[in-house]
Amino acid sequence: MIERIENTVAFITGGASGIGLGIAAALAHRGASVAVADIRADHLAQARDQAVRDGWEDRFLGLELDIADRQAFAEALKAAEARFGPLRILVNNAGVGIAGPVAEATFGDWDWGLSVNLGGVVNGLVCGLPLLRRHGLGGHIVITSSLGALMPPRPTRGIYATAKAGLIALAEHLRLDLQHSGIGVSVLLPGPTLSKIHESEQTRPAELRAGSRFVGNATDKAPAGITWQDPGIAGRMTVEAILADRLYIVTHGEYLDAVKARNAAIEEAVRQATDLREGMRG
Ligand SMILES: NC(=O)c1ccc[n+]([C@@H]2O[C@H](COP(=O)([O-])OP(=O)(O)OC[C@H]3O[C@@H](n4cnc5c(N)ncnc54)[C@H](O)[C@@H]3O)[C@@H](O)[C@H]2O)c1
Repeated sequence: MIERIENTVAFITGGASGIGLGIAAALAHRGASVAVADIRADHLAQARDQAVRDGWEDRFLGLELDIADRQAFAEALKAAEARFGPLRILVNNAGVGIAGPVAEATFGDWDWGLSVNLGGVVNGLVCGLPLLRRHGLGGHIVITSSLGALMPPRPTRGIYATAKAGLIALAEHLRLDLQHSGIGVSVLLPGPTLSKIHESEQTRPAELRAGSRFVGNATDKAPAGITWQDPGIAGRMTVEAILADRLYIVTHGEYLDAVKARNAAIEEAVRQATDLREGMRG
């Protein structure tokens, strides 16, 4: 487990923008060294500018990485350890806001949405977990899902929510598997947060675009009464959850009724199952 952030080493995917940068900054402000891995060079440059402005450039390492590339992922982790020392905190945060009619999705849509939003996290675990285990100092893994994955379905979010719901299950099971290992696991469930996720289409590989009706520009309006939240809040919440070793990190309390509505529908189906089965026995 992580008892203090100071002098730890963290690796954050998608850490050069939005929520990932919020987490990187919150960790750096508490004294961690942060390796920020991102597919966009312009985001990495902006993140470096922020580190310089806020006085943590000596503890900042920017790495260009596509998390769907397994070999490159392993090499980026190696580069982070070579610069800062043993990895303690792994934040699997990078994701793309793919949006479109799931019933008409192409293989390209599925391959892009899942290879980044789900496969990228799998790659982080397979490459990164051995590093966290090796030193015996304890560690923590954060996986960024979405609060949307726990709410009733929304139009156009089929691929995105499929990946994000999978990440919740992954984090829950990983935490169980690692319970005696000194490595904690948290799943971050953000609500609407200011970021560049509406620019996601820019990073879709060209060969996965043909015939697609999907867009990477998930320009969802926040529902009435909800304001887009500063990513620094998600960052600070994540740091507190790492220290407290909490499984779920939720950034928006406003969605309680929506989460309850989905749970209530599932509970009702479970309740009915007994009656239905009894009826079939007769
Ligand atoms: N912003 C929100 O409202 C919101 C809500 C729920 C969940 N999320 C999740 O939060 C995470 C962070 O998103 P954000 O909103 O901060 O968006 P963002 O676009 O500002 O940040 C994501 C970063 O990931 C990088 N990235 C994209 N594909 C990559 C790849 N293949 N390899 C490496 N880096 C890649 C992008 O370049 C970007 O810098 C995502 O997983 C997203 O699904 C965001």
